[in-house]
Amino acid sequence: LTAPFNDLEALERVVEQHGSELAAIILEPVAGNMGCVPPLPGYLAALRSACDRVGALLIFDEVMTGFRLAPGGAQELYGIEADLVTYGKVIGGGMPIGAFGGRGDVMDHIAPTGKVYQAGTLSGNPVAVAAGYATLKVLRDRPDIYGQVAEATRILHDEMLGIFTKKGIPVAINRVGSMISVHFGREKVQRFDDAGSCDLEQFNRFFHHMLEGGVYLPPSAFETWFISASIGGDELDKTLEVVGNFEG
Ligand SMILES: Cc1ncc(COP(=O)(O)O)c(C=O)c1O
Repeated sequence: LTAPFNDLEALERVVEQHGSELAAIILEPVAGNMGCVPPLPGYLAALRSACDRVGALLIFDEVMTGFRLAPGGAQELYGIEADLVTYGKVIGGGMPIGAFGGRGDVMDHIAPTGKVYQAGTLSGNPVAVAAGYATLKVLRDRPDIYGQVAEATRILHDEMLGIFTKKGIPVAINRVGSMISVHFGREKVQRFDDAGSCDLEQFNRFFHHMLEGGVYLPPSAFETWFISASIGGDELDKTLEVVGNFEG
């Protein structure tokens, strides 16, 4: 069963029709696979209460947002606690690994406490775990990194919006923390349908224009850009200079 992201009515319909049959609702709390699309105010809280109402688990896929938006991920940023959370390479410092965790009574179902056996060749792989541990230690010791990357992303957002507005190019720029994306041809992108009805050809022209100018963006309008702590004033200036030469 699916209900589009940010569509509360569709969610309520599914919950009403299927009620206690629902085992779980899983979503990215900030969508990162349609460009960056933040949850509308109250959306995550409505999901939380719908799950509580029918006894379903709320599962956040924090593969992109975990440790990126805050040490506690989107859960911390939006003040919503999920029952289970999934992580990917973010807990491996970029190395191949995945993890899930959450409420004690749910996790107690996993062996050796419970009956569900979970294992894999690379589970707990020492190299990936060491890389993840090193990354998380840096984040713990330098919490200012969160403000730094969010500020760089804000500057990129404001400046790009200024450039596109001056050129008369309609654009929606969405941003949460260090996640940002640019959708052409619309001024608001709040759902997948919005993202899908943007000017994808214009994005492709933009991507190639940026690449020729030496700025390698994610190659699809449906991908989020992640601003890292290595991106400083020089990189922003260079990026904005190339954006400034885009003719639309
Ligand atoms: C939000 C999200 N969830 C899940 C995955 C899948 O992760 P993995 O490739 O580690 O299975 C990805 C991959 O990038 C992702 O972006």
